[in-house]
Amino acid sequence: MACRKDTLLLVALLSFVTFYVRAKVDIDMDDTVSVYRGDPAELHCRYSFSEEPSMMMVQWFVKYPNGSRERISYRDLTIERVDEGTDYTDRITVAGDSNSETLTVLTVKLSDEREFFCQVNGMAAGNGERKTHLAVFDPPEAPVIEGVHSGISVSSHLLSKIASCEARKGYPRPNITWYRDETPLIPINGEINVVTLVTREASGFYTVQSELQYKITKEDKDALFSCKVSYFVPGDVRTSASQDINITVHYPTTNVELWRELPKGLVKEGDTVEIRCQGDGNPPPPYTFNREQQPEIELDSTNGQLVLHEVTRRDSGVYQCRTLDLDTEEDVVGNMHLTVHYLDPAVVVPKDSEVMSKGESLTATCNALSSLNTSTVWFKDDREIGRGHMLFLEDATFDTAGEYVCEVSVPTLAGFQSTGSVHIIVQGVPKIKDAENVDMEERAGKWVNLSCEARGYPRPIIAWSIYGTQSWREVLNRVTEDSVQSLVTLKVTSDITAICNATNDMGVETKTHSIKSMSMVTPAAKFQAEGSGIIIVIIIICILLLAILGSVLYFLYKKGKLPCGRSGKQEIINVYSTAEKPNKEDIVVEMKAEKTEEAVLLKGVNGDKKPMNDQYIDLRK
Ligand SMILES: *[C@@H]1O[C@H](CO)[C@@H](O)[C@H](O)[C@H]1NC(C)=O
Ligand SMILES: *[C@@H]1O[C@H](CO)[C@@H](O)[C@H](O)[C@H]1NC(C)=O
Ligand SMILES: *[C@@H]1O[C@H](CO)[C@@H](O)[C@H](O)[C@H]1NC(C)=O
Ligand SMILES: *[C@@H]1O[C@H](CO)[C@@H](O)[C@H](O)[C@H]1NC(C)=O
Ligand SMILES: *[C@@H]1O[C@H](CO)[C@@H](O)[C@H](O)[C@H]1NC(C)=O
Ligand SMILES: *[C@@H]1O[C@H](CO)[C@@H](O)[C@H](O)[C@H]1NC(C)=O
Repeated sequence: MACRKDTLLLVALLSFVTFYVRAKVDIDMDDTVSVYRGDPAELHCRYSFSEEPSMMMVQWFVKYPNGSRERISYRDLTIERVDEGTDYTDRITVAGDSNSETLTVLTVKLSDEREFFCQVNGMAAGNGERKTHLAVFDPPEAPVIEGVHSGISVSSHLLSKIASCEARKGYPRPNITWYRDETPLIPINGEINVVTLVTREASGFYTVQSELQYKITKEDKDALFSCKVSYFVPGDVRTSASQDINITVHYPTTNVELWRELPKGLVKEGDTVEIRCQGDGNPPPPYTFNREQQPEIELDSTNGQLVLHEVTRRDSGVYQCRTLDLDTEEDVVGNMHLTVHYLDPAVVVPKDSEVMSKGESLTATCNALSSLNTSTVWFKDDREIGRGHMLFLEDATFDTAGEYVCEVSVPTLAGFQSTGSVHIIVQGVPKIKDAENVDMEERAGKWVNLSCEARGYPRPIIAWSIYGTQSWREVLNRVTEDSVQSLVTLKVTSDITAICNATNDMGVETKTHSIKSMSMVTPAAKFQAEGSGIIIVIIIICILLLAILGSVLYFLYKKGKLPCGRSGKQEIINVYSTAEKPNKEDIVVEMKAEKTEEAVLLKGVNGDKKPMNDQYIDLRK
């Protein structure tokens, strides 16, 4: 306190002296010094006297918010000291020479933002005081934005809170501005409002909270909102932006659309049809489906999807999807027309089956009722025979008979077809296949097959009349609807006539097979080639026979028993016959083992006049 009194006294004295001397001092200081919190701040005080002072004193003062001034340092020509017991005692240094002095605040605190006074006293040489404002800066943390999570309805008549934004711990006070898709949102009465809450913490920092209130429209559903915080730094203004957020906008449905999802293309009976309904509202409201002619009947659907299974033409018509607009309390309706195409079974005229006479003509028609243009193709035996819904059958033959299938299809709708058929019967006199009479030659004893095949309607019956052999039988009788085939096998014993008689109600046709039996002469050549041995045997036998005959004749002649009439001749023949029979048998059996034909030939040589065939069969027995 004593020190202070001394100082005040000194100041008063100096002022008094200065007043009379009119000498003066010029002091130069920065108006403002800007530093970040925590950095050191240097405050310079430069002075110059018009007259060299005999003594001099430099003091630094601060001014508190409560208005009181306090000295924080003192220097004269002899001493230099920081005042004890002030807020700055441990945080400042002062250094000076004859015309300047620098006060250094080592680590600047937010509370250091104030005015610092530099007072220079030179007694008679003059005195003065200047000040510097120390500005302190500390950027806020990055802004944090938080959108509202619930959907916001456009039908609200008040402003709705969209989002809040917070910038914490800044100094000096930062500002928050709002953006929608990079466009700043300036508060407009009734449309945009920004509510700002600034909090000054005990530490001196500012925290700014801002809330955006906004009149939402449907267009905002895709908009991005953000906030930016702007803050001062030494010599500049900086900004820092928040993330973008989107918001859920609820808006009523004003329009619903209905479309067919499945199947693509045309719809035919039997298809499964999937109809979808979508409105332009958010969130999607519940939809109901109905048919236009039955508005009161609600169709079963899930999530705006209506599925119609196995549709028929009765399902054709207008389908509606509706939802309630909660604002206007009115139904919003969408329409869609569904066409189910159909193709009825093909109807063929004449129906089922039709009997034609040979040579007749007939026109068959095939029609299938359809909602689309159709094309008709006729088939017989899987072969295409005509196109168009009429089929002309002219000059019918048995080949005309058969199953006629018409296939009606829809070219514009693949896989959509129906078929019908008619059975054509051609009535007529039996017609034998290869009807010309047959002449043939066959070796005797051979089995021969004769075939007779006849067509006709009603189906003919085949009867055989076979002359010349008893050995025959029918081995096959195959019938189809309009044909019959008969096969007989017969043994050629002599010339044969086989007549095939095909008969039906309309008439009869016959075919004659004439078989000429061939005698077995042909093997003679063979005999000459192979049979020289046999000839020798035969010659020997003949010689033997002649020798025996000569002996007998001679014996009879000697005994005088040889008669000279007819009866004697007859006897000779009888003897010959009876004597030779067993021999002949023996030879034949022997021959047979070698070759049947040769045995037969031998009998011929022997002059046997019996029918060859009979003998042949006997031998075989
Ligand atoms: C003014 O404030 C300072 C620092 O806060 C304090 O030291 C001083 O006593 C106060 N003066 C008055 C008159 O209240
Ligand atoms: C904050 O807003 C106020 C008032 O509009 C303005 O004076 C000040 O310069 C702004 N501060 C920043 C850092 O933009
Ligand atoms: C918001 O954006 C995210 C990511 O882009 C997206 O997944 C989400 O659906 C959007 N929400 C709304 C309500 O638009
Ligand atoms: C059906 O055929 C008629 C005549 O050939 C033609 O005029 C019409 O355009 C066709 N209709 C369709 C749907 O193809
Ligand atoms: C005659 O027909 C029968 C039965 O079809 C067959 O077994 C036989 O071999 C045929 N004979 C001739 C000579 O064609
Ligand atoms: C064929 O058969 C029919 C009926 O059975 C008979 O009237 C006709 O005389 C027969 N014709 C011949 C050549 O056998």
